[in-house]
Amino acid sequence: MPERKAERPADHVVVTGGASGIGDAVVRLLQQRGIAVTVFDLSPSGRDGVASETVDLRDETAVEAAMARAQERGPVGGVVVCHGIRGAYVPALEIDLDRLRLLYDVHVVGALAVSRAFVRRLGGAPGSIVMVSSTTAYRGWANQADYGPAKAAERQLMENLAVEWAPLGVRVNAVAPGHTLTPMVQDMVAGGYDLAAVERRTPRGQLAAPDEIAAAIVWMLCDATHVIGQCLPVDGGWTVVGR
Ligand SMILES: NC(=O)c1ccc[n+]([C@@H]2O[C@H](COP(=O)([O-])OP(=O)(O)OC[C@H]3O[C@@H](n4cnc5c(N)ncnc54)[C@H](O)[C@@H]3O)[C@@H](O)[C@H]2O)c1
Repeated sequence: MPERKAERPADHVVVTGGASGIGDAVVRLLQQRGIAVTVFDLSPSGRDGVASETVDLRDETAVEAAMARAQERGPVGGVVVCHGIRGAYVPALEIDLDRLRLLYDVHVVGALAVSRAFVRRLGGAPGSIVMVSSTTAYRGWANQADYGPAKAAERQLMENLAVEWAPLGVRVNAVAPGHTLTPMVQDMVAGGYDLAAVERRTPRGQLAAPDEIAAAIVWMLCDATHVIGQCLPVDGGWTVVGR
């Protein structure tokens, strides 16, 4: 039998967007496992025992510097790419192209910048990356022609990195949440978004709590040693409804 490569569990993980919502729930679950966390976000984490790097993920120079500082606190073995901004939720005819470019910059450029800052410093050690895409990456929706394609591009970036980096011992995967009760969605509701309609269309009949998405992310990151290049919808059945 050929020798099997063992994946060392990460003892220090970087969570982008870890100051809020799903990312903050990931931070809490990782801490429960005794894993050290550094948050990369525009704002610092409010959690005790968490290191924070205030960084705009669109700025690769700043991301590289933040990763180098994180590495000084202990070898980073995993990254959860969970930062993000919402779309404008307007018809395609009204999308502001600067806002569209911003969505790609944050979600796609940011995801690649932090992923390669991590891989550049691994020095041959194994690693694991989980990106947070979205169910909007799978289907066409009205009023999502800015956010949806950016999240689909993030998912496709994940697949490419998974293929390139698997031989290096780096697993790359993604989770695609359905609507989840976080500040991002609360902001959409404040703007008139109809969450009750989302609940009615969801087979489970309710939205996700951030912890439920975080549990899938942490499983992908730490436990799913033979899963590579997959995007797992965590959506209460939303993507499998046939209408
Ligand atoms: N909440 C949902 O229903 C839902 C559904 C599908 C996918 N997602 C995705 O999940 C991820 C987390 O979303 P959330 O709902 O927890 O949002 P959130 O608004 O609660 O948190 C997002 C975090 O990302 C940070 N951030 C944004 N732009 C950044 C940048 N340029 N650099 C650094 N940090 C930045 C924000 O400061 C914030 O702390 C996002 O990628 C989002 O697209 C969310």
